[in-house]
Amino acid sequence: MPAVPHPIPYQGSKRLLAPLILGHFPTRVGTLYEPFAGSAAITLAAAGLGLATRFRIGDSLAPLADIWTRILADPKRLADEYESLWRAQQADPRAFYDDVRRAFNEAGGSARLLYLLARCVKNAVRFSHAGDFNQSPDNRRLGRSPTRMRTNILGAHELLRGRAQASAGDYAEAIRHATPDDLVYMDPPYQGTSGSNDQRYHQSFDRPRFVADLEGLLDRGVPFLVSLDGRTGAKTYGPALPAHLDLTRVELHAGRSSQATLSGRASETYESLYLSPALATAHTSLPRSIREASPDTRRAR
Ligand SMILES: C[S@@+](CC[C@H](N)C(=O)[O-])C[C@H]1O[C@@H](n2cnc3c(N)ncnc32)[C@H](O)[C@@H]1O
Repeated sequence: MPAVPHPIPYQGSKRLLAPLILGHFPTRVGTLYEPFAGSAAITLAAAGLGLATRFRIGDSLAPLADIWTRILADPKRLADEYESLWRAQQADPRAFYDDVRRAFNEAGGSARLLYLLARCVKNAVRFSHAGDFNQSPDNRRLGRSPTRMRTNILGAHELLRGRAQASAGDYAEAIRHATPDDLVYMDPPYQGTSGSNDQRYHQSFDRPRFVADLEGLLDRGVPFLVSLDGRTGAKTYGPALPAHLDLTRVELHAGRSSQATLSGRASETYESLYLSPALATAHTSLPRSIREASPDTRRAR
């Protein structure tokens, strides 16, 4: 797998699983849609391997989608703004983080969000019920250096230049124009934990609506892949997608659970990847050397 830039530090990023997920891509993809983009790990990996002609990045968290818009349109300014914030924190990093978080909650700002993501605990967004970003800083580190951030921002820009668009909004709107020549990759907020009390994301996830939207994609003949929670050892997270959709579920080996390792139990974690019917029989487009270098994948029903 070639080295791929990764400008947005984001908990739940599919960066490490990308080779396994890309292994299920069809041979030709017109536009790759990633409507729950976050750090857009699959878009970046697919672009790095030339697996799609065009890319559509979407996320309902508007300032996050705006980071992508700026990476595509004006990357140097975003890198400059990140650098200014990063340097300004040196005198009192803790107080500065709180100031930036307050300013972000009052007025938004994509560079502020990028700084908060780079500095916060586990690079994980957390929101209060009122919709305020409330994640704490990781006080052991100052966040990704401006030099490294700039390299990744400019690298992502180069990779996607002239062939990608980003937009803020709901996934259903983002994929409305997808056709059978395209591919939709979806990584919605986790089923095992997302609900009215979940603070992981800025909005909760409506599962019946999602299932109805998958039915819509099937009716339109649009190929898709869906990542969902899987299991650690025998413990499964979140319900499976309904059988009537006739999707094929593949388990992707995501590594060893740190929780289980701490408690002395060696449990492996698997994530689920659901393939729409056309993909379950399609030939992969990924070069054999990359597929064979990838860790374990297994098929399950
Ligand atoms: C599990 S994360 C995706 C992580 C991504 N695969 C990556 O590699 O970074 C889910 C993302 O979906 C976004 N999201 C939540 N509800 C959404 C909705 N209704 N429409 C679009 N995006 C949504 C969240 O803001 C979050 O960034």
